[in-house]
Amino acid sequence: MTVHFVGAGPGAPDLLTLRGRDRIAACPVCLYAGSLVPEAVLDHAPEGARVVNTAPMTLDQIMAEIEEANAAGQDVARLHSGDLSVYSAVGEQVRRLEAAGIDYTITPGVPAFSAAAASLGRELTVPEVAQSVVLTRTQGRASSMPCTETLEAFAATGSTLAIHLSLHNIEDVVARLLPYYGAQCPAAVVLRASWPDETVLTAPLERIAAEAEGLPVRRTALILVGPALSPGDFRDSALYDPDHVRRFRGQD
Ligand SMILES: C[S@@+](CC[C@H](N)C(=O)[O-])C[C@H]1O[C@@H](n2cnc3c(N)ncnc32)[C@H](O)[C@@H]1O
Repeated sequence: MTVHFVGAGPGAPDLLTLRGRDRIAACPVCLYAGSLVPEAVLDHAPEGARVVNTAPMTLDQIMAEIEEANAAGQDVARLHSGDLSVYSAVGEQVRRLEAAGIDYTITPGVPAFSAAAASLGRELTVPEVAQSVVLTRTQGRASSMPCTETLEAFAATGSTLAIHLSLHNIEDVVARLLPYYGAQCPAAVVLRASWPDETVLTAPLERIAAEAEGLPVRRTALILVGPALSPGDFRDSALYDPDHVRRFRGQD
């Protein structure tokens, strides 16, 4: 018996990997993490599968579902939104599975920040403008931040910030970033990227909070900030430079 963790992607059902789809289709039990996992993804579960929304459940209750499937020798597909490497709670589940001696696999998914960049039509790293992306969040009711991981510390690098779980805090986020990025730095809020009701707002940093006021949903949104979002006149990357192509292509 194996638990197959699957990144279900940011919302659009066709942003699921083929491997993820096949894992879901092969498992008689499917545990999914709430409304951010689209119903059409759940449709890949086989006829008669036990499909359970774990949003209202505790970790112990989720483990009880897995133990039950284990006793019956049934594989489990465990779905989380986006990719599993960030803000998915896969870490604590893997720890429990390892302690219980239960096998697992992890199939990556398309993360929300990639979907948001696609919706914006932007690359988040641009030559000589920004070469790093920080995936971060602000403190929530249930989760504090490590004391060194402040927005100010990340902002001091000038990299592109993809700030999760923080639209409700946007005024505070902007106030903390303004001294580093400046009022005119490009910023965006992407709400429900890749869903049919996706909303994309762009504005200079000083105006983005006002633009986002009155948005219908406050949870499923990313705030993106950094000069790469509107890089202006930047140089081409070296990758397709004729000199680079002549010297380095075909070497591996
Ligand atoms: C619990 S985290 C899950 C992140 C997910 N594991 C990933 O790889 O993107 C949920 C947060 O991710 C962001 N998010 C998830 N899906 C999104 C989407 N379709 N559009 C915009 N932001 C999204 C929001 O910041 C939301 O509050």
